[in-house]
Amino acid sequence: MKKRVLVLTGGGDCPGLNAVIRAIVKRASQEYNWEILGSYQAFNGVLREPMELIVLDEKKVSGIHVKGGTIIGTTNKGGPFAWPVKDKDGNWTTVDRSDELIRKLQYQNIEAVINIGGDGSQRISQSLYEKGLNIIGVPKTIDNDLSGTDFTFGFQTAVEISTDAVDKLVTTAESHNRIFILEVMGRGAGWIALNAAVAGGAEICLIPEIPYDINRVMDKIHTRIVGGRGFVIIVIAEGAKPIGGEVVGEKSKEIGYLNLHLGGAGLRLKEELKHAGCEEDIRVTILGHLQRGGTPVAYDRILASQFGVKAFEMVLSAEYGKMVSYKHPKIVSIPIKEAIAAYNTIKQDDQLLRTARGLGITFGD
Ligand code: F6P
Repeated sequence: MKKRVLVLTGGGDCPGLNAVIRAIVKRASQEYNWEILGSYQAFNGVLREPMELIVLDEKKVSGIHVKGGTIIGTTNKGGPFAWPVKDKDGNWTTVDRSDELIRKLQYQNIEAVINIGGDGSQRISQSLYEKGLNIIGVPKTIDNDLSGTDFTFGFQTAVEISTDAVDKLVTTAESHNRIFILEVMGRGAGWIALNAAVAGGAEICLIPEIPYDINRVMDKIHTRIVGGRGFVIIVIAEGAKPIGGEVVGEKSKEIGYLNLHLGGAGLRLKEELKHAGCEEDIRVTILGHLQRGGTPVAYDRILASQFGVKAFEMVLSAEYGKMVSYKHPKIVSIPIKEAIAAYNTIKQDDQLLRTARGLGITFGD
């Protein structure tokens, strides 16, 4: 009987997921006696009745590395440890179905699971590993906020899209002498904002790690306008906040969705600037999910392919409880525990942050 590996994608989608899936299947096809299955929408495919498992063979994954999204679906709601159910009064609550999940996987003769996901998904991986499941993690997130790896795939695509947006806003900003605020993703880490600000040549960059003082932002705008440059580009991460303030977002009504729906940091900044006496024209663009859609850039396809091949090789060497990681110039494996111990946020001594300051970009501090 063939040995089976179950692959799943969890959390928000991310350009490069399909390239990882394809690489796992292609690497496995070079070995004798392995079959790759995909679970539809993370562990939901196993926990649902009937189960939704998809056989992934070379024909199924042919050419998918250039496609965004994930052919096996994903979800960032619930999970085996917090499966949403309605209680007898009609209220939503959660139940732990992890034991049932492990039983079902054994029954399906699954030798190992490869969980492609961000921080939340890898926390689930670690808990399942502690329950005895043979599991391997593959890090993904456009935010690049996962520790233990130099980069996650999907991040460079998001940076490329955000930089392109800055470039486009510059031409209209300079024609109209306007201030443009571009809001990009980044819940707790401002990597996309920082990279797009440097690559696009923004004047101001506001990130979650550095709460901003609106007066410092005003000072920079003033210097710029007085200096004869009639326009200003501000890149702000969705998780940025003023000193003493909170993030802008709303609690989701989706069942099992734990995160705040962030969005609106740019609009708030516009109000704060007006309130502080800014008389220039201000326009706000929220890039939102455009950063996660479409074709992955070559860098992300390559990194994702490296991650996929390595993940299957970790199955062959039974490196369970570990996550694939990129530590330049090598693709290595590290304990999942290490990767979820802390977020990868921008530190004050970060080299790119220092470069940005050297370029005169203001962070509002
Ligand atoms: O974690 C990746 C991310 O894109 C964040 O930058 C963003 O806040 C969040 O996902 C949005 O998630 P959703 O697709 O559920 O709105």
